[in-house]
This record gives sequence, structure tokens and C-alpha cells, in this order.
Amino acid sequence: MLVHNARKVLKEKTSAPKKAKKKKVLIAYYSRSGTTEKVAKRMQKLTGATLFRIQTKKKYPSNYDKLVKTGEKEQERQARPALKKKVKSMSSYDTVILGFPIWWDDAPMAVYTFLESHNLSGKTVLPFCTSGGSDISASVKHIRRVCKKSTVKKGLTANDVSNKKISSWLKKNRVSVKEQISVQLQIGKTNGDRLEKRSSRPGKDFWRAYEGGLESGAYQPLAGGKLAAIAVCGPFGAVKEQASGLYAQTMAERGFLTLAFDPSFTGESGGEPRYVASPDINTEDFQAAVASTMYDMTRVNARGYFDEEDSENARYEKRKALNAQRTEDYKNGSYAPAGGVADPMPEDAPFYFQDYHAYYKTDRGYHARSLNSNEGWNVTSSLSFLNMPILQYTAESRSAVLLIHGEKAHSCYFSRDAYRMLKGDNKELMIIPDTVHTDLYDNLDIIPFAKMECFFQENFK
Ligand SMILES: Cc1cc2nc3c(=O)[nH]c(=O)nc-3n(C[C@H](O)[C@H](O)[C@H](O)COP(=O)(O)O)c2cc1C
Repeated sequence: MLVHNARKVLKEKTSAPKKAKKKKVLIAYYSRSGTTEKVAKRMQKLTGATLFRIQTKKKYPSNYDKLVKTGEKEQERQARPALKKKVKSMSSYDTVILGFPIWWDDAPMAVYTFLESHNLSGKTVLPFCTSGGSDISASVKHIRRVCKKSTVKKGLTANDVSNKKISSWLKKNRVSVKEQISVQLQIGKTNGDRLEKRSSRPGKDFWRAYEGGLESGAYQPLAGGKLAAIAVCGPFGAVKEQASGLYAQTMAERGFLTLAFDPSFTGESGGEPRYVASPDINTEDFQAAVASTMYDMTRVNARGYFDEEDSENARYEKRKALNAQRTEDYKNGSYAPAGGVADPMPEDAPFYFQDYHAYYKTDRGYHARSLNSNEGWNVTSSLSFLNMPILQYTAESRSAVLLIHGEKAHSCYFSRDAYRMLKGDNKELMIIPDTVHTDLYDNLDIIPFAKMECFFQENFK
């Protein structure tokens, strides 16, 4: 989701009715490959219910075809595979939300072992499933046959399901859903006009020393009161309608006043010439807010990816080419763009370019104003990065720092190295397993928002 849809997301946010009767709820789920588990965990976040994973003692084949056959055979003989553990105090729950993948148009047999080995009489059972396309109705019929003394409600087929749909299903079934914080979005130039006019404290929202005006979207929890503020920008070459808007919106839903902005010279922000990155001015963009680094642009420009072009000669050749380009730009009276993410992808493109392509060049993350989605920065823009290394005084930072990086991100070395330089016990490096660079742009199941919330709450004092 994301992109141009920050506003759409806003509209989807609704408040839960406050009066829903509070029930003690258990979410029990079976999941082989993690799809059902993800939905179960989202339900857990929405409800605060207890989560229980149904696990069999025996291991199923890891080969998919063999697994499918095993599932079929188990169903034919109505097997009841033994479970690793039972729910300790089932009697304390009124409602059991039961999640499972569809196996042969039914729930896996382990789910029936679960149902038969607990006393569910008098309880409400809410089944949901994930599947390759089948819906849940046949399974619900079978579950009703097994749970004769329970009220088994109409199930939810939860393939690609939105939180809104999950919430309304839960509410319909009298499971209370945590109040979602409604967020109001204001769009405007920070030292220009609109945001200031709407703001209760005109002119103080986001002050910068350079002229030009940063175009931003401010996300404000409607709850009000004194709020801690977070400014979000990046990735390099993206705009506020992409990853930064998503982060800003999500953190606002967690109770912060947030602001996503386009860096100077890009997107809807002011400044001439267009599409130039400036280490100085981009730092100034952040001065009045919070700074965070995911990508050391000066290092990658001066030394190449993975430091593979780290030699005096390589830098000399780059400067020579960039200076020739300056002359060329002067003659042409325009700046040559470097080109954004290549499309179509060259066959030999490294994996991280493929990740970028999957984000910037598809509906997932494309935006008309994003440089990476289109023509890219000016070629000569990288000269300043090549010549002016940032992060020189990292070791002196007294502020609390949380670095978050995907284990499989090509760029992970930037955070690992920055972390090595940092001093003090208020610094933390969080490496997220099996995660690539662009997962942290928009994957809501992976981005550790809860961790960020704790971090900001602890350190904004
Ligand atoms: C043994 C087996 C049987 C399956 N049968 C069906 C089926 O009848 N209909 C269907 O739409 N998907 C079927 N699937 C696909 C799964 O329901 C689907 O991939 C599900 O989302 C996996 O959930 P999980 O990752 O939580 O295990 C089957 C998968 C397996 C392994």
C-alpha cells in the first residue's frame, strides 16, 4: 500500500465502538509456511488477545508436493495427529479465534485434534483461513460438526485481507478491537504558507536557514495534547508519498506528531537547481528535527558499492568524468539526469537493483515525483558527496541512536560500520533477519514500528 495512498490509508482508519463487550479471547492458529501466522499476529495486535500456535509432534515433509500428498492422506483417514502442547487454561476464554490454512478444502487434521482435545462447550469459535483460493465455508461446516456444543460463527477467508476488514469481522462477532488512533494529515510548505496557517503555532513547525520551502505532510493524532514530534525523510531519491509518508503515518497512529518531507530541490519542495543533493542543505533540512542515517551516500559515491572502487585513481576518474559533465551541462544550459532505477532491468542486474526495481518501478512504490522512479538526480549531484564525507564525528554523538537494517540488505554494512563507531550505552543496532533493503520501505509486517515507538518514548523525555 503506501505511495500516493497516504491519504487513502487515512480514510480507512476508523474508530472502534467503545462499548463492545470485553471478552477473554484466544487466537489459536495452525500455520505451515507462515501465511496464516501473519494474519493471526495482526489479529493479536488489533485485539491484544492471547496467541497460541497449534503444533504437531510429527514433522511434515518440507517438500511441497510430498506435503500436499500427506495432507490428502491424513484427510482420507481422518487422522488426528498428536499435538506438542495444549492450551493451559482454556476455561478462562469465552471466544476462540481459530486460524488455519485450507488443506484439501478443509482445515488440516491437526486443527481437529486441537478442537477435540479441549473443552470448548459454551464458547464462541471464530474460524478464519488463508488459502490458495478456496474459501472457508466447507471447513466451517466440518468444524460445526466437531464443536457441537460451541457457537461456530461464519468464518473469514483472510487472503490479502485489510486490517479494516479484519476489524469489522471481529467487531461483528463482538470481539473488541483496540481503538485505532485517527490521524489527520496536513499538507503544506513548512516555511511557506499552508501548514503555517493551519498550525496552532505558526512558523515554529519547521524552521530552516535556507530559502526554498520544504513541502511536507504533517500527521497529527487527533487525540491532541502535548506530543513528541518525529520528522521523516528518505530514502535518497524518494518522495514523501513513498516510504517516509508511510513511516510518518504509522508513527502518528502510534501517538506521535510526525512530518514527512521532500528534501530541498526535489519533489514538491523548493530550491534551484532541481534534483541536486547537497550534504549541507540536506543536513539543514533535518536540523530542526530528528536525523537518522540508513545509507552513507558519501561513502557509496566516493568508494562505490561495497567499497569496491575505493582507490585514489578510481576517484580521480570519477571527478574527471563529473567535471566534464559540468562543462557539458554548461554548454547545454541544462543538467543531464543520471537516470533513476533502470527499466527494463538489465539481465545481469545485482539483486539489490532488482529490489529497487520491484519498489520504484511498479505500482508498489512508483511515484511520478520520485527521482528513483523516473529520471534520477542530476549526474553532477554526486560531486559533493564524493568530496565531502559525512559521519566524521559519529563517535561524538551523545544522542540516543537506533539503527535498523535488514540482514540481507546490500547496504547493511553502512549501519554495522556506523554502529561500530558509535559510543555510549544509548546506541542500538537492530538487524532484522531475512530482510532486504526495500522490505524496510513498506513491509508493515517487517518494519519494527513497535520497537521505534518504544525507542522514541524512552528517549523523548
Ligand atoms: C496439504 C495442502 C493442501 C492444500 N489445499 C488447498 C486447497 O484445497 N485449496 C486452496 O485454495 N489452497 C490449498 N492449499 C494452499 C494453502 O491453503 C495456502 O498456501 C495457505 O495460505 C498456507 O498457509 P500457511 O502458510 O499458514 O501454512 C493447500 C496447501 C497444502 C500444503
